[in-house]
Amino acid sequence: MRHTAFVFDAYGTLFDVHAAVRRHAEAVGPDGQQLSEIWRAKQLEYSWVRTMMGAFQDFWQLTEQALDHAFEKVPSANRSARQDLLDAYWRLDCYPEVPAVLKALKADGARLAILSNGSRAMLEAAVKSAALDPLLDDVFSVDDIGRFKTDPQVYDMVTTAWRLYPDAVSFQSSNRWDIAGATKFGFRTVWINRANQPDEYRDFSPALILPSLEGLS
Ligand code: LAC
Repeated sequence: MRHTAFVFDAYGTLFDVHAAVRRHAEAVGPDGQQLSEIWRAKQLEYSWVRTMMGAFQDFWQLTEQALDHAFEKVPSANRSARQDLLDAYWRLDCYPEVPAVLKALKADGARLAILSNGSRAMLEAAVKSAALDPLLDDVFSVDDIGRFKTDPQVYDMVTTAWRLYPDAVSFQSSNRWDIAGATKFGFRTVWINRANQPDEYRDFSPALILPSLEGLS
């Protein structure tokens, strides 16, 4: 089946979440990578736990709380970089191949969107700063439903808005857990395995695995 609807996860897939710490590496100090990994892991954990508890807070709040926790876990990291790291999150680098791949899909007549845990404000800022706004038909934020991925209601925002069956949508994410949720929902899924991670959630496998978005069709 030829897909004409392509939906992308944002953080880790289009935008490099570790770009923030990299950009301020000198200020943060030698344990920046550890700080960045804890920051990301906690941000995600908070999203899952809050969805299960039914206690939503937007992704920006979780991002701040996760960074504060990461600084407590890595006391050698320089806390004076906190505001710079948070500011960087609003204009993260997109991965180098992203603009060309989206342009090619768009030229082919595809409909393109982001579906993300990010708050609407964060997503709008990141999309604008990477100049992706002219290429996207929609930006779906979980803000509209107050639940995070992998709740099926999140993936359902796309099929409801676009009036498509799930298998008509090609969903791309670098997060293997997100691919599991999207596969269970019924999307055609493409795991962008940027970090060459081992496979998981083998009962919810992607249709395709790519090392980057290049070659997506
Ligand atoms: C997102 C998180 C999962 O963009 O990275 O939805």
